[in-house]
Amino acid sequence: MTTTFTAVAHPNIALIKYWGKSDEELILPASPSFSMTLDAYPTTTTVRLDATAAEDSLSLDGRAAGAGQRARVSAFLDLVRQRAGRRERVVVESRNTVPTGAGLASSAAGFAALAGAASAAFGLDLDLEELSRLARRGSGSASRSVHPGFALWRTGDDAGSYAEGLDAGDLDAALVIVVLNDAAKAVSSRVAMRATAETSPFYSAWLQASNDDLDQMLAAFEARDLDGMGQVAERNALRMHASMLGAVPPIRYLGADSFTVLDAVAALRAEGLTAYATMDAGPNVKVLCPAGQASRIAEALARVVPAASIITAGMGPGVRVYSGETAGG
Ligand code: DP6
Repeated sequence: MTTTFTAVAHPNIALIKYWGKSDEELILPASPSFSMTLDAYPTTTTVRLDATAAEDSLSLDGRAAGAGQRARVSAFLDLVRQRAGRRERVVVESRNTVPTGAGLASSAAGFAALAGAASAAFGLDLDLEELSRLARRGSGSASRSVHPGFALWRTGDDAGSYAEGLDAGDLDAALVIVVLNDAAKAVSSRVAMRATAETSPFYSAWLQASNDDLDQMLAAFEARDLDGMGQVAERNALRMHASMLGAVPPIRYLGADSFTVLDAVAALRAEGLTAYATMDAGPNVKVLCPAGQASRIAEALARVVPAASIITAGMGPGVRVYSGETAGG
C-alpha cells in the first residue's frame, strides 16, 4: 500500500490586485492585495512519493503535463524537498475545474492545493501562515487561496510576506462570474506584470494608488459596507488594467464584451442594485454583489452577453488536506 495525500483548494478573486513583484525569485509582491476565496471551481491534487523515480511526474485532468508546467511544479517541489531534507520524487495528479490560464485564477487554486498535499506528503506540519508562504512560491495569488473567505497578502521579505485570513463577520458577498472566453490567455500574468513594471510609465502610479485603495477597502470591509468595497474594487481593477495599457507593447486583456458587461453593471447600479465589476488577466468579468441579488444580476447579464457562461460563487473554504491509501505504487 502507498500513502497518498490529497488537497482541495479553491480559486480566489482579488478585490485589490497583485500586479508587480519586488522579487521575482521569491515571488514577493510590490503591493498588498485583498481577495475572496470562492466556493466554486475547486482544484483537487493528489500526490504520492516515489523513491525510485528519477523525476517528478505531473498529470493535469488525466493528461501528462507539458515540459513547462512540469518544470514549474518540479521547481516548487524542490522547495518542499529542501525544507523537509528529503529527496524522493513525486507523482502529482491534479484536476482543475476552472479553465486553465483564462484569468480565472487556476494557478492560485493549483499551487495552494499542491502546497497542501506536497507538504503533508513530506511530513511537514505547516500552519496556515507557513503554508501561505510556501504556496506563494508557486504562484503569488496562491498565498491567498490557503484561507477561507477573505484574505490579505502583505508585502514583506520572504519570512514576512504571506496572506492572513480576515474575519468577514456577517458580510453578505457573492461574485457573479461572467465567462466570456475560457481559452488560455496569450500572455501569462507573470510575463505581463513584469512587462508592466519594466515598461509602463503608469506602474509607479499604480502602486501608489493601490496602496491607497487597500486602506479604503479595509475600512469598508471592517464596516461590512459592500457598496464601499465594490466601488474600490472596480476602480482598483481598472487602474491595474490602465497600468498594463501603458506597457510597451501595450497589454490588453479586456475585450469589447468586457466593456459591454461593465456598462450593464453600471446600469444595474443605476437601478439600485449593489453590483461592482473586477477583471483579472483575461476578458472575464466578476461582479461583486450581495448573495440575494446574484440571480437577478446573472439574468440581466445573460441578456447582454448571451454567449457567456455565468456562474455565481459564494465565500469558499481554505485548503483542506486528506491522506489515504492506494494499492501499488
Ligand atoms: C491579475 O499569482 O498568477 O490575478 O505570482 O507570477 O504566478 P505569479 O502571478 P499570479 O498573478 C495574479 C494576478 C491577478 C491579480 C491577483 O490575483 O491579485
